[in-house]
Amino acid sequence: MTRLCKDIRSGKKLFMGKKVAISGSTGGIGRELCFYLAAMGASLILIDRNKARSEALGADLLKASPKLSLKYITADLEDINAVKAAADALIAEDIDYLLLNAGAYSIPRHKCSTGYDNVFMINFVSPYYLSRRLLPTVSKNGGRIVAVGSIAHNYSHIDGEDIDFSTRNKASLVYGNAKRHLMFSLFALDDPHIAVAHPGITQTNITAHYPKLIYAIIKYPMRVIFMRPRKACLSILCGMLCESESGEWIGPRVFDVWGLPSKKILSTCPPDEAAVITKRAESIYSELLGE
Ligand SMILES: NC(=O)c1ccc[n+]([C@@H]2O[C@H](COP(=O)([O-])OP(=O)(O)OC[C@H]3O[C@@H](n4cnc5c(N)ncnc54)[C@H](OP(=O)(O)O)[C@@H]3O)[C@@H](O)[C@H]2O)c1
Repeated sequence: MTRLCKDIRSGKKLFMGKKVAISGSTGGIGRELCFYLAAMGASLILIDRNKARSEALGADLLKASPKLSLKYITADLEDINAVKAAADALIAEDIDYLLLNAGAYSIPRHKCSTGYDNVFMINFVSPYYLSRRLLPTVSKNGGRIVAVGSIAHNYSHIDGEDIDFSTRNKASLVYGNAKRHLMFSLFALDDPHIAVAHPGITQTNITAHYPKLIYAIIKYPMRVIFMRPRKACLSILCGMLCESESGEWIGPRVFDVWGLPSKKILSTCPPDEAAVITKRAESIYSELLGE
């Protein structure tokens, strides 16, 4: 993957003629992914909840890559109707790649119209729905769906009584439970056109979840200690280009936090737990299809 990272960094046209859709493009990692992809020749479809921010990013991307073909889809991942409309639009666009990059950690909580907690919706239900709807298109085109996972998946173990952790307050547990569902439900699809990658830890809005005073103190050291988003997002780009097996994720090679990407088999979810996650994911998906 070191050679591949070199090609990515040098702007080799690895995505020439390919349509790449990315959620959460306005975030710290999403923005960097877009600049790399535009430089590598991809056409981009930005899926964001805030159209003005999305268009501001689009303007910056066009300055850097004037020939870039760019489209926008506005969708809040808390809103299942918007997510369904986004899936229809992406199928109509006949995309090659889908990057499930949007995510939320410590945000005000509420139940969505689906009945699920909003953190569970953003980090699991909506991306899983998009994956299931788009997999036939992406497979036909020989592309890939890459979901952005997290080390935090290891903080939580699923709960039979509280699927979405709506009774929990600790953000790390709620977010970890959702990422765990996303990662292991996608592994269960066991499809070469699906990959899970992660950035380790990198300072973005999502890492600004500490109390204000603590964050003010750790903000600058964090920037020095951890990789910048520009380097951290290389794992996700490698996830688009490298084959990986079910149960294997791509992320920074040193303690999952530093260095260039490498593949690693995960042994963080026992098979019986993964089976429950898989069953839940499919049952949620069929419920959503039936509505
Ligand atoms: N940074 C890290 O250390 C780290 C570690 C592990 C995994 N990750 C994962 O990396 C991915 C990117 O995160 P980031 O670090 O770039 O964080 P970020 O800067 O906070 O970006 C998150 C993105 O998700 C979007 N988003 C949040 N809620 C949404 C919703 N309801 N509907 C649609 N979009 C929504 C945000 O949109 P707005 O711009 O409108 O807010 C933003 O574009 C996430 O999946 C995150 O879980 C990050």
